[in-house]
Amino acid sequence: MRWQWGRTLFWTTIGLVAGSFVLALVGEEISSTRVREQILNWHEWLGLLSLLTLIATLIAQWFDKHPASLPLPLWLPWLRGAVGVFLYVLLVLQPLSGWLLASHEGTLASFFGWMLPPLASPSGTLAHYGYVYHGLGGVLILLISALNLRLNLTAYVFSLVASVRRRRRTAPEAKKRTYRDGA
Ligand code: HEM
Repeated sequence: MRWQWGRTLFWTTIGLVAGSFVLALVGEEISSTRVREQILNWHEWLGLLSLLTLIATLIAQWFDKHPASLPLPLWLPWLRGAVGVFLYVLLVLQPLSGWLLASHEGTLASFFGWMLPPLASPSGTLAHYGYVYHGLGGVLILLISALNLRLNLTAYVFSLVASVRRRRRTAPEAKKRTYRDGA
C-alpha cells in the first residue's frame, strides 16, 4: 500500500472522534464539577479539531494520486462508496450536533479557549433529542469506521490476489519471449 496523505488524515479524524467519544463517557462518570467541565472542554476541542482534519482530508484526497486499480467484484466498490459517503455525512454532523447541543443546553461551546457563538437559543426539548442523537451519532461513527476498515482490507486482499494471478499468467509468456529472443 502506498503512503497517502488523505488516508492518514482520515484515520487521524477517526482517532480524534474516538478520543472525543471516550472523554464524553469519562466526563459523565466524574462527580467533581470542575474536572467534569475540563473534560467536557477537551471533548469539544477534540471534536471540533476532527472537523478541521476532515476538511483537510477532503482536500488531500482530492490531490492524492490513486494507483490504477485491479478489477474487484462489482459490489465491493459500490458498497465502499456508499459506506464512505454515509460516514463522511456523520463525521460532518457529529461536531455540529455537539455545538448545537451546547447551544440548546444554554452553554457556549469552546475551541482551545475561544468561545464560539451559540447556534440556537436554549430549548429543553431540543436539548433532549439533540443529546440522544449526539450520543448515538458517536457510536454509529465508530461502528461504521470499523466496517469501512474491514471493506478496505477486503479490497486490498482482492487486489493482491488479482495481481498475483496476473503475474502468474504473464510469467510463462515472458519466459517464452526470452527463449525466442535468445534463439
Ligand atoms: C466529533 C466527535 C464527538 C463525539 C464522538 C461526541 C460524543 C459525545 C457523547 C457520546 C456524549 C454523551 C451523550 C450520551 O451519553 O448520550 C456527548 C455529550 C456532549 N457533547 Fe459531544 N461528541 C463529539 C463532539 C462534540 C463537540 C464538537 C461538541 C461541542 C462543540 C460537543 C458537545 C457535547 C455536549 C454539550 C454534550 C453534553 C454534555 C452534558 O450535558 O453532560 N460534542 N458527546
